[in-house]
Amino acid sequence: MAPTYTMAGGKGPNSYSQHSTYQRALLEVAKEKISEAISTKLEINSASNRFNIADFGCSTGPNTFLAVQNIIDAVGQKYRKETQKNPDDNIEFQVLFNDHSNNDFNTLFQTLPPTKGYFVAGVPGSFFGRVLPRDSLHVGHCSYSLHWLSQIPKGIADPNSPAWNKDIHCTGFSEEVAEAYLDQFKIDMGSFLKARGEELVSGGLLFLLGSCVPDGVKMSETMKGMLLDHLGNCLNDVAKEGLINQEELDSFNFPIYPAHVAEFKSVIEDNGCFTIEAFEKISHANEEFPLDPEFLATSNKVTFGGVIESRFGKEAMERTNELYEKKCPEILPELANAKSGMQFFIMLRRN
Ligand SMILES: C[S@@+](CC[C@H](N)C(=O)[O-])C[C@H]1O[C@@H](n2cnc3c(N)ncnc32)[C@H](O)[C@@H]1O
Repeated sequence: MAPTYTMAGGKGPNSYSQHSTYQRALLEVAKEKISEAISTKLEINSASNRFNIADFGCSTGPNTFLAVQNIIDAVGQKYRKETQKNPDDNIEFQVLFNDHSNNDFNTLFQTLPPTKGYFVAGVPGSFFGRVLPRDSLHVGHCSYSLHWLSQIPKGIADPNSPAWNKDIHCTGFSEEVAEAYLDQFKIDMGSFLKARGEELVSGGLLFLLGSCVPDGVKMSETMKGMLLDHLGNCLNDVAKEGLINQEELDSFNFPIYPAHVAEFKSVIEDNGCFTIEAFEKISHANEEFPLDPEFLATSNKVTFGGVIESRFGKEAMERTNELYEKKCPEILPELANAKSGMQFFIMLRRN
């Protein structure tokens, strides 16, 4: 079974729940767009009082609570406007939280908002397969999760393959490597859409928020790409110090691929189950990332620390992160000139 990479669990200072305000800011900016979309594009079936919402790649909270509350508020407003009835008395919301089964669901469930007005269930498992019954979902949401692939693309970890990648991600400079990553993205995104196409009711909405790379831009020209290159350099330094085996590092890759806009659209069109209602850049309140070494190092640790630790051990992970923060000031001028515009808001409607 392929390893699964989840965010740092718990509620401590180095947990995702305490260090995901950057991701949260995008949800705050998207609230109005989601509300507008639900008001104009969603048809509410007034014959049924059940409304199902799922968040795919929910992690440990609290961002997922904000995401689902935004949707519930918008559905309630629409219902009140269309029926003049109180949604609290007439609609029962069920929220399905999805993530890998090794996600810290305990933290998620322990920190549910005490005043939530919805029923809750966890639906663990990869979102590249079905996690819900057919025709059961009214609105799906997924933020900052679809850049994770289901596995390391074929060939890139093999020194004998033309797609062998000594970098730790798809920088965009090698055609063979880019092709291998894109092939895997097409398979995974195709599976995601096939599963959601079966789960969503006709007319249901799917909101996808997060990172895409603008067409014509290489990943290494973006801030996220530069930060991954920085992480790769720090891992190489730690290998030189002897805590990581260099050969192992040369075959180490992150299974992440923020697709280019055209690539993303083409997979949606190939799937054929959805109408693209919106595919637009969205301004993030904090732009790409705040240029603060301590913030960037903690963010790196809660996101990628688990993967590095499971592959190279805790000591190597801690040392890598120490260097990451220490050497970060050297790359700040480069980061300030990165190509921006990687945050996207995508809305699909099930045909
Ligand atoms: C950066 S977190 C985003 C969390 C939350 N949506 C937010 O915006 O703050 C990405 C989440 O996606 C989950 N994830 C990645 N691949 C997944 C998959 N194939 N199936 C389910 N969850 C997945 C990870 O475990 C992680 O919790």
